[in-house]
Amino acid sequence: MKDASPVPAIAMRGLTKRFPARQRDPRAGHAAAAAEVVAVDHLTLDVASGERLGLLGPNGAGKTTTLLMLSTLLAPSDGTALVEGFDVRRDPQAVRRRIGALLAGDRAVYRRLTGRENLLYFADLYGLPRAEAAARAAALLDLVGLGERADDLVSRYSSGMRLRLALARTVLHNPSVLLLDEPTLGLDPDISVRMRAQIAGLRRERGTTILLTTHYMREAEELCDEIAFIKNGEIPARGTADALKRQIRIGDVIALRLDPASGDGLAELPGVLRCVFQDGRVECTVDSAEKRLAQILSWLHEQGVVVRDVDVHEPDLEEVFVELAK
Ligand SMILES: Nc1ncnc2c1ncn2[C@@H]1O[C@H](COP(=O)(O)OP(=O)(O)O)[C@@H](O)[C@H]1O
Ligand SMILES: [Mg+2]
Repeated sequence: MKDASPVPAIAMRGLTKRFPARQRDPRAGHAAAAAEVVAVDHLTLDVASGERLGLLGPNGAGKTTTLLMLSTLLAPSDGTALVEGFDVRRDPQAVRRRIGALLAGDRAVYRRLTGRENLLYFADLYGLPRAEAAARAAALLDLVGLGERADDLVSRYSSGMRLRLALARTVLHNPSVLLLDEPTLGLDPDISVRMRAQIAGLRRERGTTILLTTHYMREAEELCDEIAFIKNGEIPARGTADALKRQIRIGDVIALRLDPASGDGLAELPGVLRCVFQDGRVECTVDSAEKRLAQILSWLHEQGVVVRDVDVHEPDLEEVFVELAK
């Protein structure tokens, strides 16, 4: 029989983090005290078991603070957070056993050890038996594409390689919940693609629950089942990328390649919300492509402008979030 109310992998209820106003230094009487910061403001959010949820938001939105509380490294000021039913405050040990957290980017590994030595060291900390640890380290090094460099010092790795080693470290103890803070921040695009493939593979192979933060819309759209948009420590919208696009209805985009390459006057046509010129194309956001396409094409024809190419699509997630962030 199907369980009617399975325990969510992550359950946050009114989770709040306030950083107190900074103390005034008595010796520097003139220094203005910084005001209290509410980094996370009564966040209520569930992540189902096996789900991949992207926490997407601008810098300072409260993403890292949320993950720090979930990983028991920072105490909540208010509210609760449970990981597979265990309270981060009352049962931190149980929570730590279940999570793998990538929070410090490529700084989570030691440079004076080799890749393999890093994993063996952390395996020891997790209490993995020696023989198992060696096999597991080798398998993970292969998984993250470091098999051939396993015995090189980490100081000789690129930052992308260090980050992939950190990811391997994060999953050494087979966590059922992964918390990934900006897992591809600062990586070259080709390395980002590999990193994402590895994260996607983890979920496919083991059904790992993943909560990842990012400010890259594409990453969230590619890696996550659902996206929660976070702003000022609150969640104004959550859903699949498609649902969010429907919810925040901002019209359709008609992209045109014109000869001559000018779209003067297009923005003044009825139903055209805005026009952006980019890479020799004009992207017109319209209230409805169905209503406006024929009208735009005939107007261009009248102007003697040749349409070399036309493409109609929904706005991408980025445009949706520009709307949400307003
Ligand atoms: N230790 C701290 N002391 C004071 N303010 C902090 C601290 N850590 C974060 N903040 C503030 O909390 C807010 C949220 O920060 P953060 O969680 O790092 O956001 P994000 O990861 O989304 O960029 C920001 O305004 C940030 O300046
Ligand atoms: Mg952050």
